[in-house]
Amino acid sequence: MGKLIYKSLPDMSKARNRVDNPKVIFDEVKVGPHLAKFAKGKKYVIKTFGCQANVRDEEILSGYLEKAGFIKTDNDREADLAIINTCAVRENAEEKVYGEIGKFKVNKTNNKDFILCVCGCMMQEEGSADYIMKTYPHVSLVFGTHNVNKILDLLEEKIARNKKLVDVYSFAGDVIENLPSVRLDSYKAYVNITYGCDKFCTYCIVPYTRGRERSRKLEEIVNECKELVAKGYQEITLLGQNVNSYGKDFHDGTNFSKVLEEVAKLGIPRLRFMTSHPWDFSNDMLEIIAKYPNIMKCIHLPVQSGSTSVLRLMGRRYSREEYLDLVDRIRKTIPGVALTTDIIVGFPNETEEEFEDTLTLCEKVQYDSAFTFIYSPRKGTPAAKMIDNVSDKEKHDRFVRLVKVIEDGVSKHAESMVGKTYKVLVDGPSKKDKGVLSGYTESSKLVNFKGPSFLKGHIVNVYINESHTYSLIGTLLDDPILVLASSLKEKIEKEDSYIRYIECKNAFESSSFLKQLKEEMEEKQKQLVNKSFKTDEDLLPLKKEIDELKKAYFNDPVYLNLQSSIADLSSLLEQIKDNLE
Ligand code: 5AD
Ligand code: SF4
Repeated sequence: MGKLIYKSLPDMSKARNRVDNPKVIFDEVKVGPHLAKFAKGKKYVIKTFGCQANVRDEEILSGYLEKAGFIKTDNDREADLAIINTCAVRENAEEKVYGEIGKFKVNKTNNKDFILCVCGCMMQEEGSADYIMKTYPHVSLVFGTHNVNKILDLLEEKIARNKKLVDVYSFAGDVIENLPSVRLDSYKAYVNITYGCDKFCTYCIVPYTRGRERSRKLEEIVNECKELVAKGYQEITLLGQNVNSYGKDFHDGTNFSKVLEEVAKLGIPRLRFMTSHPWDFSNDMLEIIAKYPNIMKCIHLPVQSGSTSVLRLMGRRYSREEYLDLVDRIRKTIPGVALTTDIIVGFPNETEEEFEDTLTLCEKVQYDSAFTFIYSPRKGTPAAKMIDNVSDKEKHDRFVRLVKVIEDGVSKHAESMVGKTYKVLVDGPSKKDKGVLSGYTESSKLVNFKGPSFLKGHIVNVYINESHTYSLIGTLLDDPILVLASSLKEKIEKEDSYIRYIECKNAFESSSFLKQLKEEMEEKQKQLVNKSFKTDEDLLPLKKEIDELKKAYFNDPVYLNLQSSIADLSSLLEQIKDNLE
């Protein structure tokens, strides 16, 4: 009882070297007998920290858990299984994880069968799993980023053997396809196109926690996106640590521009991508973004620092001048493009002049928004070994000065939107004020406006009345009922029963046999009226002929198919009507 088994532990030197070749594996979901029995009617919750890659992992974990029979709950305290999906990119992300683990202790106290799992990037760091197992006895299972697809096997083993398990491995990583998933949104979706990172920026832990850069096959990406389009999704974001490195591992010329173009051609209303590394941003890519109206003119282009000497120490592979040239090139090819960025202040030994280079770069570029961070040393990265002579106070002061410059630029962009109309994809009632809706413009600006909640997931026109730094206030210009009607029309047209009705109708209208039967029937009906029959008996042969014709007509498969397709379509329309009511 209570024994702990270390199946594998992470190893930073293996994570750095990643000598093995990534494989493509098609996963099959298998639910072991102990897990199947345990999961029946049990509730799960997943707490995710960090970036979109983690959010996508949460959706995949949900996919596996629901295949096993678990049901999702929003109430942490009633969960029988909880997974904490961690981030390692900065120290404060890690501190939040410890708090979250602590909160689940009460679940274990109230329910001896409760299972708490901890996974994600933080578990890929040497020492983390061990520390968690020793400090928090209510944690039952620890796994990493490379074995998310093994969650059901690990749970089966944990339950069958009644042991705590740690299974985290460090290697190049594989590409797993056929992953089950339960998406968190029904109109916005993330689609992974690459995993891992080969850039090894000197401050960053990601190449160690997520493995070598490996691309998914174009066909797999396109198929996933096609399915999303068919389900009526309004927005797809293509994900990767460096989306523009896509395909480099194939050595056959396949590149990110090709992915963008193929997905844009599927007709998704909004296509986004993140993150782009300035180093391999090609002209091809710019032309494709400019060419397709459904590719959002919004590029997240982390600069990290505005100083060439700091960029060199960070291992970023571009200078300040090269970054600014790229910004010019982007703005020339894609007029009106929104640029966003990530910036780190207080990198080891960053001087006042170097920091000022970051400020002047931000003044020049005028970002639409920026994520700003104070440098956080990550154990095992080259920067963590650098001796740092900048005090925490100085770093904090610089951070405040940077935010001020960024906000000046962000506010200017927001102000320039007042008095204009923008397309907004509605997310639903605003988090701060349930009385208003919120959504994002094509350039990712948050807009709040009044409207009915059924507009969630629809793209509407909003006139901007007022601007704040991080949000806009607007007025809905569209008639919500007409927005709903046109979207229902689009949805119905994609339904199988509608498609079958159209096919049956076409077959019916082009059946020369039925046409002929109908003409003969009409002709005979006329005769019945016109001819002066002496007795009822004289009428009988003609009536019989008409009956024969009717029988042939109403029993013809083309006619019968049309009738059954009408019945199916009517029941679909009734369901929609009931839902609306
Ligand atoms: N300290 C602070 N910020 C970091 N980032 C990555 N590593 C660190 C670190 N050690 C930031 C970078 C990156 C973003 C996702 O997180 O700006 O682009
Ligand atoms: Fe980290 Fe640099 Fe890779 Fe981005 S490009 S994930 S910052 S190593």
